[in-house]
Amino acid sequence: MNLQGKTIVVTGVSSGIGAEVARVARFAGARVIGMDRNDPSLTLDGFVKADLGAVATIDAAVAQLPAHFDALCNIAGVPGTAPVKLVGEINYLGLRHLTEQVLPRIPRGGAIVNVASILGAEWPLRLEQHKALAATQGFEAGAHWLRDRPVAQETCYQYFKEALIVWSAMKSQKWFLEHGVRMNCVAPGPVFTPILGDFVSMLGQERVQADAHRMLRPGFADEIAPVIAWLCGDEARWVSGANIAVDGGLASTYI
Ligand SMILES: NC(=O)c1ccc[n+]([C@@H]2O[C@H](COP(=O)([O-])OP(=O)(O)OC[C@H]3O[C@@H](n4cnc5c(N)ncnc54)[C@H](O)[C@@H]3O)[C@@H](O)[C@H]2O)c1
Repeated sequence: MNLQGKTIVVTGVSSGIGAEVARVARFAGARVIGMDRNDPSLTLDGFVKADLGAVATIDAAVAQLPAHFDALCNIAGVPGTAPVKLVGEINYLGLRHLTEQVLPRIPRGGAIVNVASILGAEWPLRLEQHKALAATQGFEAGAHWLRDRPVAQETCYQYFKEALIVWSAMKSQKWFLEHGVRMNCVAPGPVFTPILGDFVSMLGQERVQADAHRMLRPGFADEIAPVIAWLCGDEARWVSGANIAVDGGLASTYI
């Protein structure tokens, strides 16, 4: 993988998958600017500390980013054990706002990678809802739409990952045609990171046991990160609008 000369902004850089993406991308030659609400514990080329779940803090953070950069990796996220409002704001509305704000800074040939999840796989069941949410213009309009259509706490993580997959698909071709910027999702299965325990509480032992019999083991962050980093580079120049499972084959067993 060659990311020489690229500048890549990575959210969620201070832990888990985001930290690995930063490491892999730098190793491949990229300059990496991290964004997170927590301080990073790895070497970066720049860091912006920010809460990526609110418009004002996102806008303040965007003001600190370079005028131009080549790729944005949206990796920051919280599990469904967090309050439903926060899950929506961080995993979907904030991600969407950040992406729309920085799109003009990404030149032709650039890329956006959104980390979804295997838990977003059931998006076809709620496609019309997700399309309607995707059609809302901006953070506040999205939040307003959601206030009128409350999402259940138990399944909010799944709901917003589904919504992210649908929004990404709906926007990607327009942005590829108009801006020459590719946008893809990566959908990991369970990964050994600090939030894996929250997923176990969120899903319950029954579901976790059922999945455990259908995969070798949970993945490691360094097995997800190279796919995300590769999507940022020129080798992936014809990959756009995809949702790529990186899950040790787990999603294939749902068919
Ligand atoms: N670990 C898994 O099993 C798994 C599986 C599928 C998808 N994912 C997704 O992968 C992404 C990364 O998760 P991870 O497993 O590396 O978890 P993690 O907890 O190790 O990392 C998440 C990072 O996001 C940051 N973050 C959270 N909320 C933020 C906010 N409001 N503002 C700024 N930064 C914020 C955290 O500080 C942390 O550094 C998430 O989007 C998650 O939903 C994880």
